[in-house]
Amino acid sequence: MFSGEISMCGIIGITSEQGTLIEPIGKIIEKCLRKLEYRGYDSVGFAYIDSSNGELIVRKAEGKIDQAARKLGFNDANGSIAIGHTRWATHGKPSDYNAHPHTDCKGLIAVVHNGIIQNYLELRRKLISRGHAFRSETDTEVIPHILEELISKGLKPIEAIKEAFRILRGTFAFAVIFAMEPNKIYFAKQTSPLVIGLGNRANYVASDIPAFLEYTNKVIVVRQGEFGYISPNEVYLESLDYGVINVKSRIRVIGWTPEMAMKSGYPHFMLKEIHEQPIAMERTLQGLTREELEEAVKLLLNANRIFIAACGTSFHAGLVADYALTTLAKLPTHSFISSEYLKYSNVFSERDVGIIISQSGETIDSLMALRKMKKAGAKVIAVSNVIDSAIPREADLAIYTRAGPEIGVAATKTFTTQIIALLKLACQAASDVGVDVGVIENDLNRLPKLTARIIRAHEAKCKILGEELIEAKSAFYLSRGIGVPLSMEGALKLKEIAYIHAEAYPAGESKHGPIALIENGFPVVFSVLLDDYKEHLIGNITEMNARGANTIGLIPRGEEQFMKILDKYIEMPHIHPMVAPALYVVPMQMIAYYAAVSRGYDPDKPRNLAKTVTVE
Ligand code: AGP
Repeated sequence: MFSGEISMCGIIGITSEQGTLIEPIGKIIEKCLRKLEYRGYDSVGFAYIDSSNGELIVRKAEGKIDQAARKLGFNDANGSIAIGHTRWATHGKPSDYNAHPHTDCKGLIAVVHNGIIQNYLELRRKLISRGHAFRSETDTEVIPHILEELISKGLKPIEAIKEAFRILRGTFAFAVIFAMEPNKIYFAKQTSPLVIGLGNRANYVASDIPAFLEYTNKVIVVRQGEFGYISPNEVYLESLDYGVINVKSRIRVIGWTPEMAMKSGYPHFMLKEIHEQPIAMERTLQGLTREELEEAVKLLLNANRIFIAACGTSFHAGLVADYALTTLAKLPTHSFISSEYLKYSNVFSERDVGIIISQSGETIDSLMALRKMKKAGAKVIAVSNVIDSAIPREADLAIYTRAGPEIGVAATKTFTTQIIALLKLACQAASDVGVDVGVIENDLNRLPKLTARIIRAHEAKCKILGEELIEAKSAFYLSRGIGVPLSMEGALKLKEIAYIHAEAYPAGESKHGPIALIENGFPVVFSVLLDDYKEHLIGNITEMNARGANTIGLIPRGEEQFMKILDKYIEMPHIHPMVAPALYVVPMQMIAYYAAVSRGYDPDKPRNLAKTVTVE
């Protein structure tokens, strides 16, 4: 139901008829927030209207619900209306003051928000110049202040929400309570998920169905560009494009278990996260500011040498970045797997710059490599998905991918968004030294749409290709140039979740040893990109064919010479080779996923592996 939407921050809102709740509203908010914990978060908070005096009260704190519970006092919050939030930091570190809800200057409007307000810096500057006092570093806080201004101009809350919707740019969903309207929760949605629950003398609004599934399974999924309010017995829904909506026609009764609902109906988090990639990519593209890139580029352009260190999938993203920094920006770049840092310990110097890539920001090997670099006086740029985690905290500068929490052990959306962030960095560096990167930047911006199209067009075929690997003992993933780290990532996916031995190497190496392993039916996956290596791959494919290999190709659309020689192929859109790894990896992720499922394994919890490796 939520295909393509991203997990990140949790919103819940409840409005009920006076005196009908059988426990304190704070307690109900706590229960609902616990159902959203799977989305990942670093702080928690809620706002309610005190039934004894009509006051709007906000309670919030850094930490998980269990750590923050005493401070938040869920059990003594009495009222009939409340909004709650679990925050996954994107702007501003995890802290009490950055936790949601955020309020206007007078404390009469409280807002919880999921997503990114892209134009918040400009809005914040203007609001401050008009006398608004900000208490947090978040993008969210512009919303209550904008609403405050609109209300003071005489707009009704629903008009103010509609007007704010026009002012805000980005991907977001938010819920608001106004002290002067003590039984309504207002909301708006632009891309980030939002769903309404219809209860008995109570209604709900949340980021995801599990939040209120204990109370109702009657839902309305709020769509792009819609806004409105809920009261205990009413739902008002309007679209910026289509006007007032007949809500009755939109009610659905869902038959999901809470576990199914957490995965938005997908059988596994990994598949959900593969499908979330278009929106995750969009968030990375929107979230990266020119300022943060420029600061990092300044370091890179002044560096004597650049060292990239990372582990696993993040290392593969690092190799893509290495290729781009070397060939595009012509910067001297060396990459190594973090746990091998000892080789370089005596080599790092204060004139070097390190790039440490880690989605979790907590991988111990990468942290140790970072510390070695820093000890030698090198400056370090961290590329991470988790704000204020150890690696970005200890680095001189952090670039965030903003892919949202990744629950499946196999990295998917964090890999493609790392590539985007790193290529943006490489493009900025290259353009600063006079290289025209217009085509690459253009293709980076096309990635979200192309990825959505690839998933739609090729998932069924990838399922068949994955299922055909059911008996495979081993596979090769081959390419050349920037296709090699892509192949390494494809092979890693197959190994870690389908438990099929897979090896990736530059295709030109086959004759130097590995081709000895080829026998009838041996799967070899070729990635053919639109680069100078393309023609060379023809010979590599035919040498595999001649020995009975089962050759499978990801090839540029319309390349008949490859269609003729491959056993099976998937046609990919034409895209710049530098950007191709972020797109070509998507079918590889799906092939590995379906191979794992057909072999009877749970791709979310591969044996022997942990999501974050915190021991050396
Ligand atoms: C890949 O699917 C794995 N989850 C693993 O290789 C991972 O990329 C590696 O452990 C590094 O993790 P990090 O990005 O959190 O540092």
